[in-house]
Amino acid sequence: MIEIHQLRRSFTARGEVVEALRGIDLTVPDAKFFTLLGPSGCGKTTTLRSVAGLERPDHGEIRIAGQTVFSATKRTYVPPERRNLAMVFQSYAIWPHMTCAQNISFPLDSLPRSRRPSSAEIAESVVRTLEAVKLGGLGSRPANQLSGGQKQRLALARALITNPSVLLLDEPLSNLDAGLRDDMRMEIRSLQRRLKLSVLYVTHDQAEALSMSNLVAVMRNGLVEQVGTPREIYNEPATSFVARFVGSINSLQAQPVQPAPVAEGNTVFDTPIGRLTAGAKTLWDGVGTRQIVFRPEQVFVQPEAHTGNEDDSQENVLKATIIRSVFYGQYLHVEVDVDGVTLRAHVHPSLEFRRGDKVRVTIPPQHVRVLPSDDDLEAPSTGATLDDFDDDIDPELRPA
Ligand SMILES: Nc1ncnc2c1ncn2[C@@H]1O[C@H](COP(=O)(O)OP(=O)(O)OP(=O)(O)O)[C@@H](O)[C@H]1O
Ligand SMILES: [Mg+2]
Repeated sequence: MIEIHQLRRSFTARGEVVEALRGIDLTVPDAKFFTLLGPSGCGKTTTLRSVAGLERPDHGEIRIAGQTVFSATKRTYVPPERRNLAMVFQSYAIWPHMTCAQNISFPLDSLPRSRRPSSAEIAESVVRTLEAVKLGGLGSRPANQLSGGQKQRLALARALITNPSVLLLDEPLSNLDAGLRDDMRMEIRSLQRRLKLSVLYVTHDQAEALSMSNLVAVMRNGLVEQVGTPREIYNEPATSFVARFVGSINSLQAQPVQPAPVAEGNTVFDTPIGRLTAGAKTLWDGVGTRQIVFRPEQVFVQPEAHTGNEDDSQENVLKATIIRSVFYGQYLHVEVDVDGVTLRAHVHPSLEFRRGDKVRVTIPPQHVRVLPSDDDLEAPSTGATLDDFDDDIDPELRPA
């Protein structure tokens, strides 16, 4: 439905050149919910604005429903109003002095006479669209008398009234409080399904991307780092940047132990905390330095006394000491020390640990992945750092 090929765009700001897009390739399938996810400044809005026709890239091509709407080499540029799409901005951009109905009908009212529906048809579409976004009966209400969530719905309604084949949404929920945001996620998603819209959605919020999308493209520095379903992105990150940005992760430098592998598909690695086995779905081509990564919720922590048989020969079973634990309601965040290395685990909230407790940590090999090391990686952009926890810590558990 939307095909983006080798899109490049630089800006010059105060004499400095910023390469906002450095060769974006994307295919957004028909009637799917497709999300661009990435940290601030990675080029999400620039990509969306290029699709909308609000930005002219320096290089590349964009096709919508088979029609070339932009091509740098062929010098094609179709203006926004001829791309059969609608865009909703973070700021809503609704007119406060107009009623809801006037806001929604605006895109139709402003069409040239030859393409404009009759007043009766416009009125009917307005009622239908108000219903679709659950604002039925509020047509005559001035827009400035709406709540934040209602304003957001109004902005959506105004985008939908022209029956666009493609809906572009740029962080549309970031102004809403947490509870409302959850509701609106589900509403936007069901609207997309019902109307079979192709949605290109922008967010830097990983939970939003995972919970709403058919497909997610993780962007970094003007490039797409990985495209996949939410499960693929989360469970099989292709790079450590993706692993870190989408959730939190434990990572360890690793050297393969020869001869490898021990079992079919498994590879044994030497790490700072001893030998660990990585499961079948590893991306190791045998070249370069590696790291192994695993998610905190795949780390199991048991009190040492409970394990009974002290069988140290099992794969990925480690002796550890509790550094701290923080209760989050849905899970217990635990930090353990293994040979001077801190690992994070998210365990069942019914468990309780104290600082200094001796425990056994198990990391099932099938959840251990191997990725290229990424030494130039900045600090994780999501996922908490140790300092984030200090305020929540039970004083008894606070490290001395
Ligand atoms: N008009 C402009 N002039 C100069 N630089 C720009 C312009 N628009 C974008 N940029 C730069 O291009 C890069 C990408 O910007 P973009 O707005 O696409 O990022 P983003 O991923 O949407 O970030 P955010 O999550 O903060 O909205 C940034 O470094 C930004 O400063
Ligand atoms: Mg942006």
